[in-house]
Amino acid sequence: MTSSLPVPSRRTFLAGAGSLGAIAALAACSGGGAGSSGPDTEADPKDQTIGVAMPTQTYERWVQDGANIKKSLEKEGYKVTLQYADDDIPTQSQQIDQMVTQGVAALIIASIDGSALTSQLDAARAAGIPVISYDRLLTNSENVDFYVTFDNYKVGVTQANSLLYGLGLLDEKFEKASDAPKGPLNIELFAGSLDDNNAHLFWKGAIDTLQPYMDDGVLEVPSKQTDIDQCAIQRWEQETAQKRMENLLTTHYKGDKKLDGVLAPADPLSRGIINALQNDGRGDTIKDGLPIITGQDAEIASIKLIADGVQFSTIFKDTRKLADQAVVAAKAYLEGKEPEANDTKTYDNGSKVVPSYLLPVEMVLESNYEKILVDSGYYTEEQVEKGQA
Ligand code: BGC
Repeated sequence: MTSSLPVPSRRTFLAGAGSLGAIAALAACSGGGAGSSGPDTEADPKDQTIGVAMPTQTYERWVQDGANIKKSLEKEGYKVTLQYADDDIPTQSQQIDQMVTQGVAALIIASIDGSALTSQLDAARAAGIPVISYDRLLTNSENVDFYVTFDNYKVGVTQANSLLYGLGLLDEKFEKASDAPKGPLNIELFAGSLDDNNAHLFWKGAIDTLQPYMDDGVLEVPSKQTDIDQCAIQRWEQETAQKRMENLLTTHYKGDKKLDGVLAPADPLSRGIINALQNDGRGDTIKDGLPIITGQDAEIASIKLIADGVQFSTIFKDTRKLADQAVVAAKAYLEGKEPEANDTKTYDNGSKVVPSYLLPVEMVLESNYEKILVDSGYYTEEQVEKGQA
């Protein structure tokens, strides 16, 4: 998925010519966020290529993210090199190395392992290429200029609140339900990939919300697997989640022991968990006894499951807006400005607090998916019926 090669920028030309005075002048008028030479703020967008590195095409959202970023950059006149790495870290490192060597004007990176790209980021800094960390935080490096993402802690809180609501512990105002069951209700917990910083924030938001109920004995985790390390699903793989659910059922839910709810952090994992539960005869729908299962990303297949009363909830994060925000940030650096942050405290990547722009998230349920997703034009009713976009 590589598009045209970049035209050498004025920056590379000047560096090649060894014109130190000119480089210093360029650095002075650059945003200062990028490296020593900084972007060529005079360059025409059509002479600039932006490198976009995405993790995988197995999750619907990254396919849309990549396409949306590309479209939005092209609308601004830039050329784009968009690459997916099949969730393979060496592939992603190599792709970014190549983008740097080719002289891209800016990088937008959604990492596989946020800590694995430090040498690529060093190289980008040395070449004066501004780096936008996209959705997932690039960690352990000073050389990250800006971060665009959603309120990731809030994702976890919202997932947990939907679970509590589905279990009847919260009412529709998300306050303590007057007729709340005393429990204990049995739940199991799943987390994302440990090398993705987001997985930790989702988990923290969810656990902070669920912990008081676990402490009171209203919620119980029969497997006793309550550490993120025990619940994490490497590379966010659906099959791994399905297998873990199967193992949990075999070991901890013998006979008719009930499982009431599952905290699942992303829609493909939710669907793997649903497969395991359905195969174990625990109901085809929630009405038939299937547990309350959460999700994230509002993938079309899961919206159909929500409409059909199979999956209980998901989280909608409008990736079109995230893509636009990434482009706004890249453009700001390329024009010698600083992008506007709305959070300068939360995202400490281990080397610095990365100025961030956070977008809001929304809980999606059977009762509101039409309003949030269909009325807004994100999906058509027909797509929901088919479960395909
Ligand atoms: C993203 C989620 C996504 C997950 C798996 C996370 O970093 O924020 O939206 O579901 O990765 O791809």
